[in-house]
Amino acid sequence: MTTRIERCKDGSDTIYSDQFGQFYHNPNGAVAESLHVFFEISGLFDAIRVNQTISVFEVGFGTGLNALLLADFVAQSGSNSQVNFQSIEAWPISPEMAKSLNYGDFLKTPELVKKLEIIFAQLENGNAEIDLLQNVKVNVHKGLFSTFRPTNHTPYNFVFHDAFSPEVNPELWTPDVFEVIRTWSADDAVLTTYCAATRARAAMAMAGWFPFRAPGALGKREMTISSANPRTLDGFKPLDIEKLRNK
Ligand SMILES: C[S@@+](CC[C@H](N)C(=O)[O-])C[C@H]1O[C@@H](n2cnc3c(N)ncnc32)[C@H](O)[C@@H]1O
Repeated sequence: MTTRIERCKDGSDTIYSDQFGQFYHNPNGAVAESLHVFFEISGLFDAIRVNQTISVFEVGFGTGLNALLLADFVAQSGSNSQVNFQSIEAWPISPEMAKSLNYGDFLKTPELVKKLEIIFAQLENGNAEIDLLQNVKVNVHKGLFSTFRPTNHTPYNFVFHDAFSPEVNPELWTPDVFEVIRTWSADDAVLTTYCAATRARAAMAMAGWFPFRAPGALGKREMTISSANPRTLDGFKPLDIEKLRNK
């Protein structure tokens, strides 16, 4: 797969994938979008602030930016949360490319990027497993989503659905994918994605998630936040679940 690093408008790097014909992040701001979608809107920062034990599942490890931002926040907040971060990635970038990304400039604990480089070195040979911090454990399954099965895991509390768009990466936006993730997740788990496409929301609804509207990052009108238990998302604007289920 050919990939190249590009600079976003907020100064943070992203990657352009020739294989999928898309950027890994919003070109207006990789760091800004990740913080908004996966940490602020989802309530994950709040859960870390109150020292909850947290299990996260990410669809698409990509550059590893989300794992870095997570560990950086845990470190800077002095949280005692125990965090397990499980991701999957079929086509990892090379350790050299990971080393060239400028994410250290955006972290309060920039030395975390050294550990990210170790993850990509491990991924050259198979799965990766490392403690980014004593209380933040990262595991990356190398392979297609369809080849992953969680073992001995606590149900996921937060799901980062960070695939490419449904147009170019349709296999990660099906009802079957959302259903299997739901069975691996806690009843009150929160799933977030930058995507506001009706077909993505319909797939979630058919799989037993309740999708809600949330304000999008960086000028995007909307993103999507879902839970299997709609009471978890009081305060967000619900979507017409019956209409979505019958799409
Ligand atoms: C939008 S990027 C992820 C961005 C990433 N979370 C980050 O912060 O850099 C989507 C990722 O999903 C991976 N991917 C796409 N389809 C996949 C599949 N079926 N199974 C596993 N990984 C897949 C791609 O290789 C890519 O790295």
